[in-house]
Amino acid sequence: MFMGTMSVDDKNHLTIGGCDTVALAHRYGTPLYVLDEHFLRQKARTYRTIFNDLIPGSKVLYAGKALLNSAVCRIMAEEGLGLDVVSGGELYTALTADFPREQIYFHGNNKSSAELKMALERGIGRIVVDNIWELKTLGELAARRGVNVSILIRLTPGVEPNTHSYVRTGQFDSKFGLPINADTTMDAIRQAVDMPGIDLKGFHCHIGSQIMELDAYQKTVRLMIEFLARLKRGLGLTVEELDLGGGLGITYLPDEKSPSLLDYAQAISSALTTSCQKHRLAMPQIAVEPGRSIVGEAGITLYTIGAVKEVPGVRKYVAVDGGMADNPRVAMYGAKYTGCLANRVLDDAEELVTIAGKCCESGDILIRDISLPTVRTGDILAVYATGAYNYSMASNYNRLPRPAMVLVWQGKSDIIVERETYDDLVRLDRIPQRLTEAKAAVVKG
Ligand code: LLP
Repeated sequence: MFMGTMSVDDKNHLTIGGCDTVALAHRYGTPLYVLDEHFLRQKARTYRTIFNDLIPGSKVLYAGKALLNSAVCRIMAEEGLGLDVVSGGELYTALTADFPREQIYFHGNNKSSAELKMALERGIGRIVVDNIWELKTLGELAARRGVNVSILIRLTPGVEPNTHSYVRTGQFDSKFGLPINADTTMDAIRQAVDMPGIDLKGFHCHIGSQIMELDAYQKTVRLMIEFLARLKRGLGLTVEELDLGGGLGITYLPDEKSPSLLDYAQAISSALTTSCQKHRLAMPQIAVEPGRSIVGEAGITLYTIGAVKEVPGVRKYVAVDGGMADNPRVAMYGAKYTGCLANRVLDDAEELVTIAGKCCESGDILIRDISLPTVRTGDILAVYATGAYNYSMASNYNRLPRPAMVLVWQGKSDIIVERETYDDLVRLDRIPQRLTEAKAAVVKG
């Protein structure tokens, strides 16, 4: 199940971006995140082209929560995408990488005053206001500074797509956004319109992540356009922008089929045209915010196999030098991955094994039941489609240093995130003076 530029060379090694993955593992160490630049750019470009063709004037904002670092910011900016950030840290990363400010949209259900101030000071494109408390805080901050801020208001349309409950966000019972059908939402909109310094440009919604059914998107479009029509009738308000969020699913396993970008864009475009006609509404400027479907399949993770252990009559465990610390998705959502032995790609599968991580948790299993050639210590395992929500959700659990990330392109590889060291792990630790004194007293006593 090769993706992007993945291939096999004459040594029977997996290659990606024209680089031998076994050589990458030896050169940079493992676990190693590898990002396929060509594939990443191709996805970003395809998104932009397709959406611009089908919905002229539309914007594609890359959702940085899927994977963000300075190099990825540069690539997305070069490809002409905007950026969705969700914290001061993501915003800081984007600003440090000189991401065009006006193309940055700031999300989040609990932005702090400090984060909002930072966004105001840097003059970013849009703040996506999540709730009434945030609207008031932002209004006060903008008034105090005497600046104007362009906002979208986040709504929940009441759509529940078929995906893991942890990543469903379109339902009314959600910590995100204001329910589309509530009177209090109308009140909030009225307040926003009347607030000096607040320029309400439009609305936002995001129904969830890893969504495979296009119906859910069409339903969302219908509900949002109907809402805009109600707003026009009720408040006489016409807004210019509608941001439909992200969430398109990708293929993690060979037997899965995700919708193509074209099908996705067509589904949205046709629902928009029909709904706008029905309600006699001019088409708003559309934005979408894909994360996973841009970066997910462009990443793989390389691991070195360590302990191999057979539990007689039960299963064979093959342990790798990473696990839930670099990819928490399996433990969190029961996510499923596949991969191959990067140093013996085309060898026949001979055994069914379970790939275990090295964390102190029985739940730290990366792949349950994968058919591989007989696995030996020292083999290199490549796990596919780890580009999204792996590095960005990685932790130092068990004090494991976070892996490095390399960007591969036409046979070249460059580090874009350094591997953490043990020194990095203790860098922020502090020992209070009284502990030192207490120890001295014990030694003395
Ligand atoms: N826009 C908003 C407002 C979002 O909350 C998200 C994702 C996206 C866009 C991008 O969604 P995507 O296209 O990547 O599906 N950690 C989970 C996924 C959480 C998604 C959070 N929000 C996972 O690993 O499956």
